[in-house]
Amino acid sequence: MMRAAVPLLILAAALAAPAQHRDRNPFSAPADFQEGLRLYRLNCGVCHGMEGKSGRGARLAVRKHRHGNSDAELFRIIQNGVSGTEMPGLWMDEDSIWRILLAVRSFEVNAGEACVATPGDASAGRQLYAAQGCAGCHTIGPEGGRLGPDLSAVGLSFSREQLRTALAKPSQDIGARYRTVVVRQGGKAFRGVLLNEDAYSVHLLDTSENLRSFLKSEVDAVEKPGSSLMPAYDGLSEADMDHLLAYLCTLRGAGQGGASQ
Ligand code: HEC
Ligand code: HEC
Repeated sequence: MMRAAVPLLILAAALAAPAQHRDRNPFSAPADFQEGLRLYRLNCGVCHGMEGKSGRGARLAVRKHRHGNSDAELFRIIQNGVSGTEMPGLWMDEDSIWRILLAVRSFEVNAGEACVATPGDASAGRQLYAAQGCAGCHTIGPEGGRLGPDLSAVGLSFSREQLRTALAKPSQDIGARYRTVVVRQGGKAFRGVLLNEDAYSVHLLDTSENLRSFLKSEVDAVEKPGSSLMPAYDGLSEADMDHLLAYLCTLRGAGQGGASQ
């Protein structure tokens, strides 16, 4: 899937381009932004969504990226990719990468208001999180299930309203990495998150976190219902919803907020 970086080519590119090891984006003009957005849609939209909102691994419409937030860090991520993941390095001149970064920055602006922990009681929310079985599918810190995204830093990445929508209408905006798939074989239905699929095979993580692989020639049907594996928590009382949201807002990465269960 991923091509390994070829150091010689990178070196050649570095020599060919004018020396510009900048720490800050040298571009800001509207025309550069438009060009960056065009390049983004061509090269990145398929995985991150045209507005940066879905992600095979990373939502870009957030206020804080997991791998770093400075211009220099983001430049490096876009140029080199993230090894061991689907995120490829971008084989492109430095100016184009800086322009693409303008587009990424514009998504951050749309990420919404900072998550606020009031109203609601975060410690009551933490108990609800346990009682509702959220940890069966989500990790916070090292603990929990792996079917859904890691929630250790959701309080940084999402506004309160975005979190409310994620809980009440989970099927509204599903990251490409969390697509539901149902494989039917001999009267049985295997439901889970789609991991990979090609012309001959399909691989999923089922709801008990078993990795299952099927040859398409041996199954009756492969269905993608377009709904999330996460149940909709739209029946919670307004007070309970507030508590849960308050708790999620405190989750701001390693060692902070309610990061230990
Ligand atoms: C084949 C799919 C794919 C393509 C194409 C792709 N990305 Fe990614 N990107 C990913 C994945 C998956 C991750 C998450 C890696 C991880 O798990 O750490 C990621 C991570 C990132 C991150 C870090 C996010 C964070 O939270 O720190 C940035 C920034 C990013 N991508 C920008 C881009 C840009 C800009 C482009 C286009 C030039 C692009 N990506 C193209 C899949 C892709
Ligand atoms: C059966 C598994 C399952 C359960 C139980 C579950 N979730 Fe999820 N959750 C998912 C999956 C899969 C996704 C990703 C797809 C989507 O966005 O709907 C998700 C997405 C989310 C998101 C969006 C995060 C992001 O990075 O996109 C939040 C927030 C969230 N869940 C919180 C909760 C909370 C709080 C509970 C308990 C009240 C809960 N979930 C229960 C599976 C689950």
